[in-house]
Amino acid sequence: MLIGLLTIALSSVLTGNNAHPTSNIPAHVRTTTSINASIWMQQLLPYIAHYHLINLTLPGTHDAASFTLTSALSPDPTGSPVLDALVKLAEEFGIPLQDVITPWAESQGKNLYDQAEDGMRYFDIRAAYNGTDWCSYHFELGLPIYTHLVALHSFLLLHPNEIMVIEISHLASKNLTQDNLNVLRDMVINLFDSMLYPRTKSFNSTTIGEMIASNQRVVISLSDDATIANYTQLWYGSSMINSYANSDSLAQMTAYNWQQVTQFNSIPTLPVSALFKLSWTLTPQVSTIVDSILPHKPKSLKNLADIGNSGLEEFASAVLKKEWQLCQLLLIDFQERSVLMQVIFASILQSN
Ligand SMILES: *[C@@H]1O[C@H](CO)[C@@H](O)[C@H](O)[C@H]1NC(C)=O
Ligand SMILES: *[C@@H]1O[C@H](CO)[C@@H](O)[C@H](O)[C@H]1NC(C)=O
Ligand SMILES: *[C@@H]1O[C@H](CO)[C@@H](O)[C@H](O)[C@H]1NC(C)=O
Ligand SMILES: *[C@@H]1O[C@H](CO)[C@@H](O)[C@H](O)[C@H]1NC(C)=O
Ligand SMILES: *[C@@H]1O[C@H](CO)[C@@H](O)[C@H](O)[C@H]1NC(C)=O
Ligand SMILES: *[C@@H]1O[C@H](CO)[C@@H](O)[C@H](O)[C@H]1NC(C)=O
Repeated sequence: MLIGLLTIALSSVLTGNNAHPTSNIPAHVRTTTSINASIWMQQLLPYIAHYHLINLTLPGTHDAASFTLTSALSPDPTGSPVLDALVKLAEEFGIPLQDVITPWAESQGKNLYDQAEDGMRYFDIRAAYNGTDWCSYHFELGLPIYTHLVALHSFLLLHPNEIMVIEISHLASKNLTQDNLNVLRDMVINLFDSMLYPRTKSFNSTTIGEMIASNQRVVISLSDDATIANYTQLWYGSSMINSYANSDSLAQMTAYNWQQVTQFNSIPTLPVSALFKLSWTLTPQVSTIVDSILPHKPKSLKNLADIGNSGLEEFASAVLKKEWQLCQLLLIDFQERSVLMQVIFASILQSN
């Protein structure tokens, strides 16, 4: 839980000299200020209080809760060719299934509280019901959803000037009943209670400053419309607009995301009840798994993320040079092995 000061090497993100001479951010803030990532919204409040959520780029984690997984396979009725390839690999080499799957399933290195302290403000939580409990999952089951939500809730209590967006989706199960779904919904509502920013508002009706002042600081979507129809505290799944390259190649992912950002910045009037996600993530394919036995090929999602994350700074500086917004939610794997926060700070400082 110890956080070091995060020194922004702004010049390395915003390449180009004196790119924004009209900025009202003092020069010392723009160049060398240290921002404490755990309270960056509070520290940057003078610059973002007048913004709405549609105007910000929030940093976040893809498959946020897959930092620890059990050996229990998750009940995902949709199946996955990548999982099939992993099972085949385990059989072929006589390796315990978990040893083969887990390196390709773990997408983060820290728990949700620590991710929030690192500055993350969006969390992609995928829930599966195992017959008795709601758990996170990615091929394998993780910790109970309640554990993850309590971590984020306690972060919010201890950091009263931070805002958060949580997406709870997938809702996988062999045999889901409405009662199971209601349990999940009630768990969320009872825990976050009056902190929930309701869908009767929009992402352009309340400023960041007002959200903090009213203490309605957490936006949560739950992707089952019928379950939340009568509960306006929660947002529909469609309020989070997803996109991802579905490629294990950095060049392809970069090209795909350039297209996404171009499209996003050419929307004449942004929707006010939805947020666009940009996934700076590489996705293993069946061939990625098959090739993983070869030398010099990625052997885990962490290896793959290191390749992806190495391309973020160049991409972001190209976007910021055009004075574009990077999207509204920027997702990454293994956030602690990336320059995501520097990119976010640069984007805020640029638009001021
Ligand atoms: C960063 O902020 C947190 C929360 O306010 C605080 O506990 C921590 O000591 C700060 N870190 C530094 C290095 O100032
Ligand atoms: C927020 O975004 C909207 C839509 O692009 C724009 O009209 C508005 O000026 C922006 N507000 C700020 C404070 O940048
Ligand atoms: C579901 O997961 C919870 C939490 O890990 C565990 O305690 C419980 O035994 C699991 N239930 C089944 C039926 O596997
Ligand atoms: C699914 O759950 C319902 C309600 O609990 C039950 O009636 C049904 O038999 C279950 N089906 C399977 C395949 O387990
Ligand atoms: C929502 O409210 C309506 C009207 O009171 C009721 O008929 C319906 O069953 C409720 N839906 C859920 C999922 O609770
Ligand atoms: C958002 O609100 C601002 C300030 O009220 C307004 O100027 C702007 O046009 C709105 N943008 C959208 C997309 O509704």
